[in-house]
Amino acid sequence: MLRTHAHKNVLEFSKNLDIPLINGLTDLSHPCQIMSDVMTFEELKGSIKNKKIAWLGDGNNVVYSLIEAAVQFEFQLSIACPKGYEPNKKILQWAKKNKGDIFITKNPLEASNSADCVMTDKWISMGDKINKNKKKKALKPYQINEKIMKSANKDAIFMHCLPANRGEEVTDEVMDGKQSVVWLEALNRIHVQKSIIQWCLK
Ligand code: NVA
Repeated sequence: MLRTHAHKNVLEFSKNLDIPLINGLTDLSHPCQIMSDVMTFEELKGSIKNKKIAWLGDGNNVVYSLIEAAVQFEFQLSIACPKGYEPNKKILQWAKKNKGDIFITKNPLEASNSADCVMTDKWISMGDKINKNKKKKALKPYQINEKIMKSANKDAIFMHCLPANRGEEVTDEVMDGKQSVVWLEALNRIHVQKSIIQWCLK
């Protein structure tokens, strides 16, 4: 398992290995996290197929894997992000080619409206070499707060891959609120990683 910054490290390692290599997180994608999120959703709410998942905030590595999962597990994915912080173009094109139900908007309420699950991640990722103040300012309207959760379905859940920056991408009320499943999501990481290792070992 390799948890690294540049995705090309994973590709280079895998070229030189004759055993499976698990992507534990790169600047491009974070598949292990999303496997846990799908498991957590299904554990609490049944099949994720045709459900509406909303992502608000940075179009980062976690949302890259979420887009792949939307195609694989056939759920609707609505992404709200500001200009300049949209998800990776190549994965969006791939999703379109593979009939993914992906909708992108600049309006956070449009994405969260009637969602079954609302997700976000911290605004500044590990190794982000950008103007942090400029990025935080652009992402401010995409904070998950009570107004956003009210626009989602009544029984919607809130997910965050952690660690969170409370007061930035999410408020305390939502993090600690009844709809938050962030600790179960973290626990399920353990079970999902065990399954991934088992799958690699056949
Ligand atoms: N986008 C975050 C995910 C942390 C689990 C990062 O790459 O830092």
